[in-house]
Amino acid sequence: MDYVEQRMAQEAQKHGTAEAVSGFFTPLNVLLAAIVLYTLYAIFRPTPPPSYPKDPPATVFRTYTPHTLLPFDGKDGRPVFLAVRGRVFDVSSGRNFYGPGGPYENFAGRDASRGLASHSFDEEMLTKDLDGPLDPLDDMTPEMLDALQGWEERFDSKYLVVGRLVSVADYEKENKEKA
Ligand code: HEM
Repeated sequence: MDYVEQRMAQEAQKHGTAEAVSGFFTPLNVLLAAIVLYTLYAIFRPTPPPSYPKDPPATVFRTYTPHTLLPFDGKDGRPVFLAVRGRVFDVSSGRNFYGPGGPYENFAGRDASRGLASHSFDEEMLTKDLDGPLDPLDDMTPEMLDALQGWEERFDSKYLVVGRLVSVADYEKENKEKA
């Protein structure tokens, strides 16, 4: 084969390869290749670890005294608690009622039993002496006790009980017994 024939053969081979390559890259083939690649990616891509919904924060049941209940008044973003007949409710979701500036803010961080039974949120409904015994509510009429029970039922259906309220004396007595 002389030089000219050899070159012609080389050129013919080159063109054949180029044609084969350009023949492969038709729009349809490109689309099919993309689908195949995406399917492979979808099958083999690493799966992220499953994420589970977070548990709500655990409610800790605590024993409060009128003193330790006092800071739960909703001020500076603190929770709002109030006590009814020895049970402490977390009424934070009712912040509009009991939080700072709310109509019943006097009850926040306090024993609200007498006020609720008497349908009054006046200051004098609250136990003055935080070191003394809890309000015995022994002067309540049956109607007042009925009203109080109504409030308790409402609170039971709406709020969580987060603790109990005892007098400072009872608290100290209980702690002495434990020690
Ligand atoms: C001027 C008269 C009063 C009006 C117009 C009034 C109005 C209201 C209204 C509209 C609600 C909201 C009810 C709801 O959406 O569930 C409410 C709730 C309440 N009111 Fe009054 N109220 C008055 C007097 C009192 C008094 C004197 C007390 C004192 C014990 C009181 C204690 C409460 C309490 C504890 C709640 C429940 C809040 C909650 O669900 O946590 N209200 N009041």
